Amino acid sequence: DKVPLLFQPFAVKDLTLPNRIVVAPMCMFSSKDGFMTDFHLVHLGSFAAHGAGLVLAEATAVEPRGRITPSDTGIWKDEHIPAIKRVVDFVHNQGGKIGIQLAHAGRKASVKARFDDLPDSEYWKDNVVGPSGGADFQWDKSHHVPHELTVSEIQDVVKAFGQAAVRASKAGMDTVEIHGAHGYLIHSFLSPISNQRTDSYGGSLENRARFLMEVIKEVRNNFPADKPIFLRVSATDYVEHLNKPSWEIEQTIQIAKWVKEAGVDVFHVSSGGNTAEQKIEAVFGYQVPFAEKVKKAVPGLVVVAVGIIVGGAQAEEVLQQDKADLVAVGRAYLKSPSFALNAARELNVKAAFSAQYGRGRASLGTF
Ligand code: FNR
Repeated sequence: DKVPLLFQPFAVKDLTLPNRIVVAPMCMFSSKDGFMTDFHLVHLGSFAAHGAGLVLAEATAVEPRGRITPSDTGIWKDEHIPAIKRVVDFVHNQGGKIGIQLAHAGRKASVKARFDDLPDSEYWKDNVVGPSGGADFQWDKSHHVPHELTVSEIQDVVKAFGQAAVRASKAGMDTVEIHGAHGYLIHSFLSPISNQRTDSYGGSLENRARFLMEVIKEVRNNFPADKPIFLRVSATDYVEHLNKPSWEIEQTIQIAKWVKEAGVDVFHVSSGGNTAEQKIEAVFGYQVPFAEKVKKAVPGLVVVAVGIIVGGAQAEEVLQQDKADLVAVGRAYLKSPSFALNAARELNVKAAFSAQYGRGRASLGTF
């Protein structure tokens, strides 16, 4: 009988995923000076060993002040490459594919991870940046007052994204995902809530998208042409109740068209995170309708749906109804690294998993 879509391979450019399950990028706050550690090898490696189609490594900073917390992963210097490559090699050895999320936290940088107890010297509260500066642009009182990036500083950050892409390629990454979501630097440029610049990087949608488009161009020029590039965005700021200009799905659809032209292959649709005043109703599959709208509006763009997708049947339905091409799973993966194996069992698929777990599974039969 027919293999469920979720377990059919999916090709984009020269990358062929063994199935359509993506592990969503998730910060683990387990690095020092940006270096991936044994934790990342075991954490990310286990998803691949358990049959995930694509593992996306967490938001990884392209410059030190672009970290959310001092314990974030980083890719701002060549010294970071070997530890990243070690994870990549293991994932490949398991038959999996892996990408890394390239990120800059912008005005949401330099905060404390829940389980960190680091000295003040580890933070950079006076060097937090955004499209607009001053107390009006503080994300909330638990964040720092950002200063406005100058045009030449913007150019430096654009270059840092490109150099990060070079390092990701050297580490063997199958793809990179540009982090344009959740109120971090790129999203904060896109939204008029956080961007009130009066130069060519603010004002019109085209101007607010300029930084993103420059980052895409730089990353595309510095990452192998046969490998795809992902972009993650927030589809909306969720502030309809405030009745003021914000980031909305219509603009998301507009930039989806632009970024496709600029060489983004895969559009990963998240939402929110740009203001503490957002009102979100997070129900099962709550972001899927945004993914569906983009997919309908931009033929040929590969779309990833994410957000409280917790099981195989739910994921399969998203694909069957043509609402997205790939499904990403975050918290359900923290609950069980075996999400893909469980989904296969749920959908009655005898898919090919790693030699080790595949054999164990065969000996137990379908139960
Ligand atoms: C996240 N999320 C997230 N998103 C992102 O783009 N980059 C990141 O580094 C992180 N970090 C992160 C850490 C943790 C612990 C969680 C729970 C979430 C968001 C994540 O990728 C995903 O979009 C959301 O969790 C919604 O999907 P789920 O969890 O409902 O499947």
